[in-house]
Amino acid sequence: MHHLYVYPDQKMSKIEKEVYGNFSEHLGRCIYEGVYVGEDSEIPNVNGMRTDVVEALKEMKLPVLRWPGGCFADEYHWKDGIGPKETRKRMVNTHWGGVVEDNSFGTHEFFELCRQIGCEPYVNGNVGSGSVQEMNEWVEYMTFDGVSPQAVEREKNGHKDPWKLKYFCVGNENWGCGGNMTPEFYADNYRRYQTYCRNYGSNKLFKIACGANADDYNWTDVVMGKAARYMDGISLHYYTVPYNWKERGQATEFDEECWYETLNKAYRMEEILTKHEAMMDKHDPEKRIALVVDEWGTWFDVEPGTNPGFLYQQSTMRDALVAGLTLNIFNKHADRVRMANIAQLANVLQAVVLTEGAKMIKTPTYYVFQMFAGHQGATLLQSSMDRNEIGCEGRKVYDVTESASVAEDGTITVTLNNLSMTDANAVAVELAGYGIASVKGQVLAASPKAFNDFDEEEQVTVKDYTDFTLENGVLTANLPAASVVALTITKA
Ligand code: AHR
Repeated sequence: MHHLYVYPDQKMSKIEKEVYGNFSEHLGRCIYEGVYVGEDSEIPNVNGMRTDVVEALKEMKLPVLRWPGGCFADEYHWKDGIGPKETRKRMVNTHWGGVVEDNSFGTHEFFELCRQIGCEPYVNGNVGSGSVQEMNEWVEYMTFDGVSPQAVEREKNGHKDPWKLKYFCVGNENWGCGGNMTPEFYADNYRRYQTYCRNYGSNKLFKIACGANADDYNWTDVVMGKAARYMDGISLHYYTVPYNWKERGQATEFDEECWYETLNKAYRMEEILTKHEAMMDKHDPEKRIALVVDEWGTWFDVEPGTNPGFLYQQSTMRDALVAGLTLNIFNKHADRVRMANIAQLANVLQAVVLTEGAKMIKTPTYYVFQMFAGHQGATLLQSSMDRNEIGCEGRKVYDVTESASVAEDGTITVTLNNLSMTDANAVAVELAGYGIASVKGQVLAASPKAFNDFDEEEQVTVKDYTDFTLENGVLTANLPAASVVALTITKA
């Protein structure tokens, strides 16, 4: 039996809803087919956006969506994606499969997608192959309210009013696909590019600098050392890759060792965040600047027979546990981690939805985001739990992980992951000084390799959770092996 102590009086930082964000890149079938099918498609759509996908994302309470990349962002020239679709310039998507991009999904379409979902747009600018002028004009095009060359062009293209745009990132992975820059060179470029990303009217940009790859703490140190005063956030990318890039294996094929290897790699997020935060504290002790983990998730081999450049992978309970444990870590780092965007939205990497023609399925990861939605905008609570190390030699993990938060109306959300592939675990939850009136729960549990497929009824879906007792104010929850549980607790 584990003991989890939650302290409702010890309120920590707010968990920004943006921590539950997502990422959509012009990569494989993420945008085209996954989200956008065009107005003339037989697949039900509104202004070209798939109705099934938009509805699913609304239900999941998606708060923010990043676009257009990823590596694609640093070769994207936004002017190619506006105006009549028939005349939009085509380009080769050199990063992702070398396919021809027809630019039929551009700035207007992205804002329309966000409008339909009801989420904040997060736009990533091009530093690697774009000019300062190009970035400056894009911001003007999107946000200038009045008569200006770009605003007039926007109106000509059917959108008189400017859009509200808060989140803007200056470059992507500029240490790699975004130009192979040194941190010193990028920091100088960041200072220059961001200067011309103007705040027009009441629109105030939240400027994000390109941050580090995984454990490259020097990048954070140098970029913040040279440019901290010009940024509101700095990004971080960390993917869960079991073993190494050559031996990572397929999403649905893994043994016990690989299960724990994967979860152990995912758990590295804790150490990586802690060390980047320490570096940030050096330059920003007041914690003004947000750490934005705008790419994270599992990265396996592509499904057999699919384009290797499209990064299409299935998603099992292993992915659900990676999502659950990572989101619990993010919650606990709420004082710095104020946005995160899992990669990616549809049909790419750890997607929340997969599509095949007119069919759409929700992945186990989708349900985890839905179950954790109670944390969005709530306040993290101090909590502690005794737990055991399990797994294989060299790839140990904690058997149970948790986080707890309180919403404005006093409702407490507790999310628990049982990382054991084989054993159930019981957790006694004690909420100091909090009289419990009611408990509702949801559970996601299935055999570790279970996944949802197009031709079968869903194998992994969220269910009402009833396997708990409430005695003398102690709530005892029984967690099935390989499961995620969310508890919603109200006060007497
Ligand atoms: O998400 C896939 C790719 O991973 C992104 O384009 C890039 O930023 C990262 O390397």
